Amino acid sequence: MFICQQCGKESLQWLGRCPTCQQWNTFVETRVTSSAKSIKSSAPLRPARELSAVAIESTDRLSLPLHEFNRVLGGGIVPGSLVLVGGDPGIGKSTLLLQVSDLVTSVHGKVAYVSGEETQRQIKLRANRLGIKGDSLFLLSETDLTAVLEQVEVLSPGMVVVDSIQAMYLPELETSPGSITQVRECTARLMQWAKQSGVPVFITGHVTKEGAIAGPKTLEHIVDVVLYLEGDQLSAYRLLRCVKNRFGSTNEIGVFEMKEKGLTEVANPSQMFLSQRGTETIGSVIVPVLEGTRPLLVEVQALSNPTSFGQPRRTANGIDFNRLLLIAAVLSKRVGLKLGNQDILVNVTGGLKIEEPAADLGIALAIASSFRDLPIDPGTVAIGEVGLSGELRSVTQLDRRVNEAARLGFKRCLIPRTGVRSIPIPQGVELVTASTLREAVRVGLMNEKTPGGNTGSQPEDSDSSLF
Ligand code: TYD
Ligand code: MG
Repeated sequence: MFICQQCGKESLQWLGRCPTCQQWNTFVETRVTSSAKSIKSSAPLRPARELSAVAIESTDRLSLPLHEFNRVLGGGIVPGSLVLVGGDPGIGKSTLLLQVSDLVTSVHGKVAYVSGEETQRQIKLRANRLGIKGDSLFLLSETDLTAVLEQVEVLSPGMVVVDSIQAMYLPELETSPGSITQVRECTARLMQWAKQSGVPVFITGHVTKEGAIAGPKTLEHIVDVVLYLEGDQLSAYRLLRCVKNRFGSTNEIGVFEMKEKGLTEVANPSQMFLSQRGTETIGSVIVPVLEGTRPLLVEVQALSNPTSFGQPRRTANGIDFNRLLLIAAVLSKRVGLKLGNQDILVNVTGGLKIEEPAADLGIALAIASSFRDLPIDPGTVAIGEVGLSGELRSVTQLDRRVNEAARLGFKRCLIPRTGVRSIPIPQGVELVTASTLREAVRVGLMNEKTPGGNTGSQPEDSDSSLF
């Protein structure tokens, strides 16, 4: 059999390009033996049961003194759960799990830390850096999963960490470690074990350059919880994002900072994202975005510059490129900014990625501000989706965003007019509304003549000088 290492498609003949995931050169010959097939059918047959008669064993979550981690998991570690921690190589997965292991040993007993990638010496060195002594933390340097599980049974720990599922293999499968068959079967085996023993198991997985764990998305449906550790290699903060959770809500994020002594929690992330903000507010807008249920204030910067050669260029860092094209087009057509001969660069500081359309207005304002060379009041935040006809659309959970801005001391919120009725006005914040992007640009940009910003009280035509 030939199996695509990206998506798991099976084929009886070798194919240069996978018809399912369109990747080239991903088919690898795999010998399918009868023993490999028998693994799947080894689970005992269980009779059907009525839902009302199903008893729930206690699912007391194991809550750790690491608040951000608990929050991402939906309140703590669920016994018997299989959690996949994915991320780029070097982002800090091993560091995070070593720290978590140490916390578990202090509240819950022994931890088995299986490392298929690093020697025990390397882990010891890391532990020294993290200030972890390692009582009740047992290291296993083994890549044969059958042997691992045998040893883990003997140890009977309260938690198991398998550092990199890609390094594990089952000898009965005749493929190399890291291949899709191995990774899938190893994960399924660990899942079975976790459910039988009631012990939580954490596995790490590298994201390949296509952005999926172990090539395939196939692991995501096997495990209970999928967490991604994200962040810019160059910046210190790390986001732990939950994309699947069978025991709680997804879309939660935890914010950490990588320091010399490992990952530390960031209790007030908005403050962190804003801490580097300079005093120059031309082309810089603060936008409250929602990450899961959590509002975060981030800074969006834009720079527009006359094109010196050929085609004008657009560069988007941290926002969707097509979104930038859309917003630039609306600014040209509906607001009247002549951006056709301008290079436009947009950057979200701190390396964060914004996917919400709620940031549209902020991006548009930043571009307009840079293009017009007019500052934006530093005490203002902007919220709103921009429509193709230049209208401002309301966004979800406006009140949360406004409250977060108020909490961090912002004085003005520029929001779509349609949204204003739905929210209570928080203390100390002035809500400035606009129904079109044109109007928003007019009230958002500070005119040199009227420091403190226009309040939108001028008649509609007086803004012609602005454009
Ligand atoms: P690591 O956990 O090995 O990454 P992964 O398991 O995801 O591949 O993290 C490696 C990076 O973390 C490394 O580049 C150095 C950095 N780091 C610190 O900055 N401080 C620390 O205390 C530790 C242990 C690592
Ligand atoms: Mg690692």
